[in-house]
Amino acid sequence: MDQSNDLSTLRMVGISKRFPGVLANDNIDFEVKAGQVHGILGENGAGKTTLMKILYGLHQPDSGEIFLNGKKVEIHSPKAAGDLGIGMVHQHFMLIENLTALENVVLGLPTKHPPLLDLEPARNRFNELTKEYDLHLTPSSPVWSLPVGDQQWLEILKLLFRNAKLLILDEPTAVLAPKQAKQLLSTVRRFAQEGRAIIFISHKLEEMKEVVDCVTVLRDGHVVGTVDPKEVQSAQLAQMMVGRDVFLDRRERAPYKDKKEVLVIEHLDCLNDRKLPALRKIDLTVKSGEIVGVAGVDGNGQRELAECITGLRQFTGGTIHINQKPVDGVINDTTLLGYIPEDRHKTGLVLKFTVEENLILKTFEELPYTKRGIIQWHEIRQKADALIKEYDIRTPNSMVPVNHLSGGNQQKVVVARELSNKPALLISSQPTRGLDLGAVESVHNFLLKERNRGAAVLFISTELSEVLTLSDRIIVMFNGEIMGDLNAEKVDVNLIGELMLGHREGLEATP
Ligand SMILES: Nc1ncnc2c1ncn2[C@@H]1O[C@H](COP(=O)(O)OP(=O)(O)OP(=O)(O)O)[C@@H](O)[C@H]1O
Ligand SMILES: [Mg+2]
Repeated sequence: MDQSNDLSTLRMVGISKRFPGVLANDNIDFEVKAGQVHGILGENGAGKTTLMKILYGLHQPDSGEIFLNGKKVEIHSPKAAGDLGIGMVHQHFMLIENLTALENVVLGLPTKHPPLLDLEPARNRFNELTKEYDLHLTPSSPVWSLPVGDQQWLEILKLLFRNAKLLILDEPTAVLAPKQAKQLLSTVRRFAQEGRAIIFISHKLEEMKEVVDCVTVLRDGHVVGTVDPKEVQSAQLAQMMVGRDVFLDRRERAPYKDKKEVLVIEHLDCLNDRKLPALRKIDLTVKSGEIVGVAGVDGNGQRELAECITGLRQFTGGTIHINQKPVDGVINDTTLLGYIPEDRHKTGLVLKFTVEENLILKTFEELPYTKRGIIQWHEIRQKADALIKEYDIRTPNSMVPVNHLSGGNQQKVVVARELSNKPALLISSQPTRGLDLGAVESVHNFLLKERNRGAAVLFISTELSEVLTLSDRIIVMFNGEIMGDLNAEKVDVNLIGELMLGHREGLEATP
C-alpha cells in the first residue's frame, strides 16, 4: 500500500447533526485505528448511517470536529474523503445498472482522455484484485445481470481500486447468503491485517462477535457505550441497543382449523434474467393459516419464484393459481396478494414520495382515499398515522419523503402497506433484511398475526434461523428445485443444511 499518507487514527469528536424533527447524532465521540475493525450497532434510525455520511463528506455536521492522525480535517465532499483515504460502501448500492462491472469501478477516477474511461489498464488491475481476494467477478458483466451478492463485492472492489485506508461498510452482509457473508467477514479481517481501518455496521450480533475488535452502540443518536463484543453476552448487547429484552425464539402457535388451498403451483418452469432455467418443475401448495418458509442459499430460484407468483415474471411452463384464479399477469388486487419484495428500493418504494404516499400507493384510487376522482388527503393522513403507530415507523410525520427515513424504517413502510389490506396470500422475500433486532421481532409477530388470521404466507429468507423460528412448513430450494418439504416443528437443522447444498441423501434416510 501507499505509505505516504497512512491513516493511523481517525477521531470524531462531539459530532451533532439535526434533521427536521430529529436529532440524528447527539454529541458523538468515535475513534477508529488502523489494523482494527470497529463495529457500530444500533436500532433502525439510531444514527449510524448519518455519522458515516458525515465522515464520508456527504453530510456536514452542525457541530463537532474530525481528526486524522491527530490533525484536524474538513471533509466537505466524498472526493475530499477519498483524497484522505476514506471509502464507503453504502447501505443501498450506488452502482449504475447499465454499465459493466469494470466501468462502474473506473467511473469517477481521473482519466487520461476525458470523457473516455481508461478501461484497458484498469482491466488488469481489476483482474489482479479479484484474483488476490478470490472474488468471482467478470469485468464485462453488466451490473444489472449480477446477483446482489456480487454487486456488494463490486462495491468493495471499488474501494480497493482506490486503495482506501479506512473502509466504511454500512450493513455489507445484509444482502449476502451465509457462505458469502463468511467470505466477507474473513476478507474484512484481512483488510485489518493489511493495516487498514474498517468501520463495520451490522444488525447481526454473531457477525459482530466474529469480526470486530470493539463495537460502539448507538441509541437515539447518542453513544451508549463501546465494548468488546466477545466479553459481553448477546442479550446484554441487545439490551444496550434496544433498551429492553428481545425474544427471537420459536413462537408457540395453535394449528389453524379452517385450512384451504390458497396458492397452488404445478410444474412451474421459468428462466432467469440471463435466460437460463431458474425454476424446474416446481410443485408447491400453501394453505390458509400456514407459514411456509423457503430456505436456501440466495440465487437458487427464490427470487424468480416470488416474481412468478406475483405476476412480475413470465413463466415458461406450468400453472399458478391463487384462490383458484390462474395467475397470468401482474396482480393488482391488494386483498388477494401482498408482496414484500427483496429489494425495497427497486420495487417496494417510490423514494421521492412521502411516507403517506408510499403507504397508500396501491390503494389511493379506491374509497375512501379517492372520492369522485378527488384525492382525500385527510383520510390518507389518518390511515398513514394509524399505520405509523401500529408498525412503529420512526418518522417525524407522514409527510416526509421516504428516502429521509433510515433503511430499516423504509422497510417497515413496505411491510405496513402490504399487510394492511389483509391479503389472502402474502409473499415476503427477506422481509427482515436490514432490520434491527427489535424490529425483526415485531415483523415476525406481524407475520404470525397474519397467519393466525388465516393468510397463506410464503416466507423466503436466507437466514436459516428465522426460517426455523417462523415457519410451519419448510421447503428447501437448490438450483431451481424444491429439495424437501419438511415439518418445521420436527425438523433436523443438519438435514436442511445438506439440502441447501443439494444433497438429498439424508432425506431418503428419514421416513
Ligand atoms: N436526509 C435526511 N433528511 C431527514 N432526516 C434524515 C435524513 N437522513 C436520516 N434522517 C433521520 O435521521 C435519523 C437517523 O437515521 P440513520 O439513517 O442515520 O439511521 P441508521 O442508524 O443508519 O438506521 P438503519 O439501521 O435503519 O439504517 C432517522 O430518524 C432518520 O429518519
Ligand atoms: Mg443505516
